[in-house]
Amino acid sequence: MRIDPWSSTPSLDYARLRDEFGIEPTDKVFRGLPEPPPLFRRGVVFGHRGFDRVARAIQVGEPWAVLTGLMPSGPMHFGHKMVLDQVRYYQSLGADVVIVVADIEAYATRGLTLERAREIAEGYIENYLALGLSADRLQVYYQSERQVVKDLAWRLGKHVNWSTMQAIYGFGGATNLAHVMAPLVQVGDILHVQTAKMGGPRPVVVPVGVDQDPHLRLTRDLADATRQFKVAPNPNGPGLTVSVSGAGSWDTLQAVFPKALAERPPKGAEDDSRRASALKDLTGRVVADVIVKELGFDKPGVQVNAPHGVVTLPAATASSLAAVDEALARYEQRALGGFGFLAPAATYHRFMSGLTGGKMSSSRPESHISLNEAPESGRKKMAAAVTGGRVTAEEQRRLGADPDACMAYEMYVYHTVPDDTRLLKVREDCKGGVILCGGCKKENAVEPVGDLLASLAKGRDASRPLLPKVVRRD
Ligand code: TRP
Ligand code: SF4
Repeated sequence: MRIDPWSSTPSLDYARLRDEFGIEPTDKVFRGLPEPPPLFRRGVVFGHRGFDRVARAIQVGEPWAVLTGLMPSGPMHFGHKMVLDQVRYYQSLGADVVIVVADIEAYATRGLTLERAREIAEGYIENYLALGLSADRLQVYYQSERQVVKDLAWRLGKHVNWSTMQAIYGFGGATNLAHVMAPLVQVGDILHVQTAKMGGPRPVVVPVGVDQDPHLRLTRDLADATRQFKVAPNPNGPGLTVSVSGAGSWDTLQAVFPKALAERPPKGAEDDSRRASALKDLTGRVVADVIVKELGFDKPGVQVNAPHGVVTLPAATASSLAAVDEALARYEQRALGGFGFLAPAATYHRFMSGLTGGKMSSSRPESHISLNEAPESGRKKMAAAVTGGRVTAEEQRRLGADPDACMAYEMYVYHTVPDDTRLLKVREDCKGGVILCGGCKKENAVEPVGDLLASLAKGRDASRPLLPKVVRRD
């Protein structure tokens, strides 16, 4: 099974996806979150990679960020609203919010002009603000305009080869090169949040649909592959080990630390003795500046194996691994010319079905309700949505209906019935034949959707003047 980020979304077996790709279930990491919103409580956000790091930052009150992107290829509909609902929650918890408009990707993979892509994107941003995203601690940018993002795509491209891109994305001889570059630009999007100018190394979460997982795996691999130090549980005893990447040979070491080692070339030495002196230098610096000075470990307890580039911290606890890792990442960026990118976390949400059953698609208006649609049109579509009801009222009273086959019920779960008790009651009444579809839909989806569409129209008018503030043109 391969996940293709550019195909229309297949119906997915989420449990199987999790098992096959090593995506973790969310229940444990979401448990400690303050007042998680419905999408989190109801398993719509069903999987994650590396969210523990973000959960920890939230708990200890350290800085963190959320970045997500939008593909400006069609109108913004309820399926797209889910990401925004998550971002808004993260913003309320104190995250810096960065939103990228994937205009390069739309150009490379969907045949849009950059101008058209930006126009469509503005409609999304207006809706984001109208839906309650605050303009403070928020920035939106265009891929095509942010130089550091494109630079990272090139620089990190050095660490990926063609076979890997083929294996991940199924690229072949006919794939255009802009499309080949698009995933690397996305890697640049995600990682540039941790550059010094954007706030430095810190936990970042990327909430996306599960179709984006290939990009997230690539990004996390590249973040790890470019780290200059690796922290792990000590394999030979208690505590942690910190090891220098590329310690095995002078060439690899120099490739990992081009700047740090260019500063003081030990002239005239053979490769082996250069390597030995470089490792002595690097381990010495990291122990003095990070392990002792910043993290407060007792110098006599720290064991340094300089020839292997390994430092052992027998007194460290497993729970301090994240703190050690983050201090090292900051040091790499600040003092050693490294990227210092922490592997970003990702969360994955399920996709909504179309109103008529089957897939929800931007290109089929009857399958979705756009957030820019007239309230009356939204109401009509909602009222016509496929339900899990019976053919006659009599039958439904006798046999009950099936909420799990009902597109209206899906709307309640994802968007229109935030109260869990109420949702559960609807579910039971539905199964028990206590309620009929017409009334059920009207109350729980048709009216709320109509009201939301009406209030969004007003909210967009109010938010339009904020656009120049939130959309950064650099
Ligand atoms: N590829 C994403 C999509 O198709 C858009 C995107 C671009 C993105 N850069 C991103 C998403 C960074 C999350 C993070 O929707
Ligand atoms: Fe859906 Fe409500 Fe009908 Fe049940 S009663 S199938 S939830 S519309």
